[in-house]
Amino acid sequence: MRYAIIADIHGNADAFEAVLQDAKMQNAEAYIFAGDYCPCFPYPNEVLDMIQDIGNKFIIKGNEDTCFEECAGQDKSTWTDGQFQARYWTYREMRSENHDYLRVLPEHIIFRDNGIPVNVTHKLSDVDEGMGDKEISSRRCILNNQSNSEDAKEQLLKDIKEYFYKDSDCQKAIHNISDGIYIFAHTHIQWNAAYENKIFINAGSCGLPLDGITGAAYTILDIEKEKMLVTERRVPYDIDRFVSKVKNSGLYKDAYVWTDIEILELTRGFEHVMFFLQFTENYANKIKDPIRPYSVKTWTEAYRLWKKENKVRD
Ligand SMILES: [Fe+2]
Repeated sequence: MRYAIIADIHGNADAFEAVLQDAKMQNAEAYIFAGDYCPCFPYPNEVLDMIQDIGNKFIIKGNEDTCFEECAGQDKSTWTDGQFQARYWTYREMRSENHDYLRVLPEHIIFRDNGIPVNVTHKLSDVDEGMGDKEISSRRCILNNQSNSEDAKEQLLKDIKEYFYKDSDCQKAIHNISDGIYIFAHTHIQWNAAYENKIFINAGSCGLPLDGITGAAYTILDIEKEKMLVTERRVPYDIDRFVSKVKNSGLYKDAYVWTDIEILELTRGFEHVMFFLQFTENYANKIKDPIRPYSVKTWTEAYRLWKKENKVRD
């Protein structure tokens, strides 16, 4: 069977459409969805509608998909703070049947193909806590490489393999899990590795890749009786056109700080959110603002200062 593994679409319907077209051209026979379908960009319904139209699929939910369950119980009159404006906008935008669809998705599935167990989770650490997602994140990549160098992906893969094959906790964890294929996502970095009789596949991010390459990521997995093949694919699409659509959306109007930073990540292919959050925390402490999540005032002022410090142009 030939599977197209797609994850971390994050409301980017244009990237998802491009990936689906490519997967069709590659003769994908089934689809594996590894979580995080909605928040970030303004097309949650379009993405979920397209997913539900696909017949032959295996699907789980990611950590960002569960944030809506938390939203549901909140007092909506307080939904004015800066930090979560994007999440609230997405919650309101999503049709109720799409909320229902997400809510009941499992967090972990196992199925078999040719007798081989295929595990699907959103995070690698869900397979075993000893394998830390943080150790193989885009944040680590940037910290190790200083910034957006051309060979960032190469360096990143080196870092991942270093951790994967040499870190004692990770090695112990890999050794202790059963043989099979492990599919996950979460870090928005596409990679795969084999160890003993285990194959690990991070499908990367379709809608918001953070490994220094901006094309939409997905991975093809072929499982046949005698052999197995993993093929990583990157699909180009019109990012400028998508960005101008995002800037004209209700999401941008309601949550321009968060959305601007996501646009920066999208167009550069690198992590910025984590660094901005750290900057905002430092700023809030400096002005002795104890409010968390951050107020609109603190959030927007931190953004203005962060842009200045990082020479980000409007
Ligand atoms: Fe994600």
